[in-house]
Amino acid sequence: MSISEHYTSVRNHTEKICSTLQTEDFVVQPAIFVSPPKWHLAHTTWFFEQFILKEHVPDYEVFDADFCFLFNSYYNTVGKRVFRADRGNITRPGVQQVYEYRAYVDMHMNLLLQMKSEELKELVELGLHHEQQHQELLLTDIKYILGHNPIFPVYDEMIHWENQENSDSGFLKISEGLYEIGHTGDGFSFDNEHGRHKVFLAEFEISKSLVTNREYLEFITAGGYTNFKYWLDEGWAWVTENQIKAPLYWHHIENEWYHYTLSGLETVHPDAYVTHISYFEAAAFAEWKNMRLPTEFEWEIAADQLDWGKRWEWTNSAYLPYPNFKKPEGAIGEYNGKFMINQMVLRGASCATSPLHSRKTYRNFFHTDERWQFTAIRLVKI
Ligand code: AVJ
Ligand code: FE
Repeated sequence: MSISEHYTSVRNHTEKICSTLQTEDFVVQPAIFVSPPKWHLAHTTWFFEQFILKEHVPDYEVFDADFCFLFNSYYNTVGKRVFRADRGNITRPGVQQVYEYRAYVDMHMNLLLQMKSEELKELVELGLHHEQQHQELLLTDIKYILGHNPIFPVYDEMIHWENQENSDSGFLKISEGLYEIGHTGDGFSFDNEHGRHKVFLAEFEISKSLVTNREYLEFITAGGYTNFKYWLDEGWAWVTENQIKAPLYWHHIENEWYHYTLSGLETVHPDAYVTHISYFEAAAFAEWKNMRLPTEFEWEIAADQLDWGKRWEWTNSAYLPYPNFKKPEGAIGEYNGKFMINQMVLRGASCATSPLHSRKTYRNFFHTDERWQFTAIRLVKI
């Protein structure tokens, strides 16, 4: 696939994800961590405009001078921007105008790629992988938006991700030794996977399956959410303050557990992976089971022998720079490095991850209380 074809295919896929939304769905922000779909459509476009068109097209005229303020996410290098919690207040520009913005930037990108595709390859690829990250965020944000609508609308009746089951069982033993961690070879990777280095791992046994709803229900029934002894202190405070009693999207109705899925409210399928749990819940479950979460290094070394890719798997590794990690120059240096504090690493990929956007060295990261991504639990014996 040429870079132009890749560009067109990724950009179209984003619009496909939004194609069944109604205008009202595009604008709301039901939680600070959720961005309105319209914002994602514009922000991913702004990324190409800001970092490629403005830099590489002589006399390029921006589509709208306000858009940098509205759709810059977090780049201090670029300048002032809308406070994150106010993204839902951006009722104007309207949805139609944002689609026009996309068409305008696509037209200029296509012209530019006809002339300079080799020179701009790396930056364009970053823009496309960035957009794929937002495609996953779009799906999870849409789930959160519709899942908090009191009538639980259907997004796509063909999607049944919450019924996905393990294909393997038992434990995989990995012997102690020195292993190499981090990205190598060709193909795209983010800066946070770089600084390939050796780590020593003690022998460990990692589960070949993810924790199921059935097992998680046992934890709930055994008083998992009411006994402090399984919880990290911050986790217990989170459970108490927010009255957490089950994974996100779960509802207890007439003695039966239901959960919101992208195809509407459904009964919880016992053999499917438990999903939408926070790091706190994953750690408490592991504690209750007398096991632990894997480190991100153990996960990466075991990955070739595991069935992974349907859920993001919490690790008990803090999101930190690898030795020799180097921040890129300029605004792009703000992409990953500055978030390496107070977050945990997740490995794998999820049912919502875009095609060609996963690899075993990929380091995703979220805060310990966040659970609106398709997260899951894999255990290691202690
Ligand atoms: C890697 C998913 C944590 O959500 O901010 C989007 C992805 N980076 N735009 C995030 C991302 C820049 C990032 N996560
Ligand atoms: Fe972004």
